[in-house]
Amino acid sequence: MITLSIIKADTGGFVGHSSVHPEMTAAARAALDGAIGDHLLLDARVASCGDDISLIMTHEHGSDAEPVHTFAWDVFQRTTAIAKRLGLYGAGQDLLSDAFSGNLRGMGPGYAELEFTERPSEPVICFLADKTEPGAWNLPLYKMFADPFNTAGLVIDAKMHAGFRFEVYDLYEEKRIWFDCPADLYEMLMYIGAPSRYVVHSVRSKTLDEQAAATSTQRLSLIAGKYVGKDDPVMIVRAQSGLPAVGEVLEPFAFPYAVAGCMRGSHHAPIMPVGVEQATPSRFDGPPRVVALGFQIRDGKFVGPRDLFADPAFDRARSQAAAAMDYLRRHGPFEPHRLPLEDLEYTTMHTLEQRLTDRWESLDTPKLPVPR
Ligand code: 13P
Ligand code: 13P
Ligand code: MG
Ligand code: MG
Ligand code: MG
Repeated sequence: MITLSIIKADTGGFVGHSSVHPEMTAAARAALDGAIGDHLLLDARVASCGDDISLIMTHEHGSDAEPVHTFAWDVFQRTTAIAKRLGLYGAGQDLLSDAFSGNLRGMGPGYAELEFTERPSEPVICFLADKTEPGAWNLPLYKMFADPFNTAGLVIDAKMHAGFRFEVYDLYEEKRIWFDCPADLYEMLMYIGAPSRYVVHSVRSKTLDEQAAATSTQRLSLIAGKYVGKDDPVMIVRAQSGLPAVGEVLEPFAFPYAVAGCMRGSHHAPIMPVGVEQATPSRFDGPPRVVALGFQIRDGKFVGPRDLFADPAFDRARSQAAAAMDYLRRHGPFEPHRLPLEDLEYTTMHTLEQRLTDRWESLDTPKLPVPR
């Protein structure tokens, strides 16, 4: 068994919230090289999407492993120090606690981890997103693993006929449920169609009895109790041989569906699939971006990445996303561009309610003269 872990955090943006400074990436890479030399990791890559750094690592310590999480926390401390020195924006933004004790749960950084026995050929895709939330993976995961109009293999490949099991988290009540698809498809959609609350955490093949996908599910707004930005999620998907083909895994992103995030984590906007070079959301701190890094894993080591959305076949999705952005922007501060009140990450409404409490009056009270 090996474990593929993506651990990510925003430790400072260059410029504003738009990208990661090259010095930070270089420091993370040097730290990863050291950890490979020390035999903590089998292999590793550093990547980024927007202002979030991802450490993409293989190792033999399993999920939630203290040495791996401690190492990642230490790397993020170092990149934060660089961000502070350069005066980058939001240095240490996602490091919410000073009291780290061996596991990143509830500490701010996001992580997706998947344990598996390597197949003779092991294609995996690491998705990194910025300016959105973990529920953003619900729609594409549904399409990849449950929609035959997306995934021909569900019809053509006998190893896929039995379907897939989806593990869904309720982020508000911290509980989980398994949906057995296709039988539970309609029930599942009732929940995962509300991605700010219900989030697909993992997917398993029923025929292979193997995990096929893992997502990061932390929700910073709920952990921190203060505005710290949307959690900018990551996802791992294994492909081929009884799982969706690489092209079936990528296909959902040909439609730039709407997600929550973008400016101040407080707007609906289309998600734009981009190559690594274009993963720098600038316009209205968006539109939200997703990159797809494809690897073959061999003896626990990465062959790759290939920058899978750097394909002109996704140009149309990018231009549709730009058009959808024009349309939504014209709503300014109105819903549905702006998120509904309960999902807003700023506490302005709470402050307003306190300040205006004396001025609101019941419709049943006799009318007073209009104030002048
Ligand atoms: P190739 O014949 O190019 O290997 O393609 C097979 C396939 O299944 C593509 O999805
Ligand atoms: P990040 O979560 O990517 O830092 O974005 C925060 C934000 O407010 C963008 O406008
Ligand atoms: Mg930021
Ligand atoms: Mg970010
Ligand atoms: Mg963020």
